[in-house]
Amino acid sequence: MKKVITYGTYDLLHFGHIRLLERAKALGDYLIVGVTSDGFDRVRGKINVQQTLMERIEAVKATGIADQIVIEEYEGQKIDDIKRYNVDIFTVGSDWIGKFDYLNEYCKVVYLDRTQGISSSELRADKRKERIGLVGGSLNAMAMLEKFEKESHYVNGVEISGICTYNKDIAINLKNLPCVTEQYEELLSVSDALYIISQPENHYEHIKKALEHGKHVLCESPITTEVSQLQELWDLAERNHCILMDGVKTAYSIAYNRMLVLAKSGRIGEIVSVDATCTSLLDFAKFDITKCWNSISAWGPTAMLPIFQLLGTKYDSCSIVSKMHSESDNFDLFTKIAFEYPTAVASLKVAQGVKSEGELVISGTKGYIYIPAPWWKTDYFELRYENPAENKRYFYQLEGEGIRNEIVSFVKAIQGIEFSYIGKDVSKEIVHLTERFKNNRHRL
Ligand code: CTP
Repeated sequence: MKKVITYGTYDLLHFGHIRLLERAKALGDYLIVGVTSDGFDRVRGKINVQQTLMERIEAVKATGIADQIVIEEYEGQKIDDIKRYNVDIFTVGSDWIGKFDYLNEYCKVVYLDRTQGISSSELRADKRKERIGLVGGSLNAMAMLEKFEKESHYVNGVEISGICTYNKDIAINLKNLPCVTEQYEELLSVSDALYIISQPENHYEHIKKALEHGKHVLCESPITTEVSQLQELWDLAERNHCILMDGVKTAYSIAYNRMLVLAKSGRIGEIVSVDATCTSLLDFAKFDITKCWNSISAWGPTAMLPIFQLLGTKYDSCSIVSKMHSESDNFDLFTKIAFEYPTAVASLKVAQGVKSEGELVISGTKGYIYIPAPWWKTDYFELRYENPAENKRYFYQLEGEGIRNEIVSFVKAIQGIEFSYIGKDVSKEIVHLTERFKNNRHRL
């Protein structure tokens, strides 16, 4: 019996796939189809897949062409499968010509002509696009708005409809967008959804207006500066069937998510301490601090994320100490927060006027997880034990600092496909601490 194997994502199964499978089958007597897992697709940069692994497997099964379906989960698996299943022929579409010649060592490699004029990417792109409008003007926002616009090009199903900003430099840098305006209503009229990175104290008004117009919102964390406002906005979002999503790009990066799962699975024993530091030095000669996010707003949500996602939000006590800018009662150059939980402790340091090592350390009763600086955009972390021989290193592809995945999550939430964003308890606690910072902190 001649065995043939082929691989693919098979998202939104189309006639190009079916023709490929038919011709693959005709090369032998028995066809094995490898369907890529969601995780493997993400690692290799294919982040827009619309259907779940189960849906894609079901679709391939329904063609009745495959004799066996396997799941492709890791780099190099093709060699293992060819040996394991005694495969005679490996085949794939001609878009891959040359890429799999190395498999000739194990079996015959055949490239079949790709069917012209159809692909999953095109089908995904043909779906109605969510038009996302950008909102923000501060100097901190500038780089983020530009990255967001750039990253949106990698995501099927979205287009940036325009920007509302008072900042002339941002308007110039993004002048090619269809709508560049200072009038919020104008941007709302051409958008289905908004990415908001205005000053935190303006979030409430911006979000409220957007939700009242039935627009979905992804807002850079903290969503508001007061918990009561946040609850009001969530209620409004629910009434108007809108998504209101908290934006912390790190929450959507693969390495960070894998680290969370490992930490929760007991690999370092019971977690006893989480310590997160995020700092960046601002050039205060250039930055007008009245138009800048203070340190607790700019970095606090990111640093709070692993603490609340690992230890929860029900701490017994917390103390906040800040070194303030000499000319402001709101701008903290440096803030340290210490938490006490019933069975653990945590601390965070955030700063824009003090520099420190930007690492994340999660300490447990059996070992610790170490994420080196800058941990908030890492592609790597380590599990470390008393016996260094047991240490393990983990690497994951990081595309676009997590922003690309964040946009994908936002769009999937809007389309009702998947709701994988930051939990409401975490968002609420971030806002609660932002509020507490204003009213209850010690000064250095
Ligand atoms: N294929 C084909 N003709 C097409 C599209 C895909 O022969 N028009 C083949 C690919 O070469 C591959 C298999 O079908 O052997 C599965 O491809 P997959 O990557 O799942 O499909 P694409 O439509 O190419 O997906 P994407 O646009 O996401 O890359």
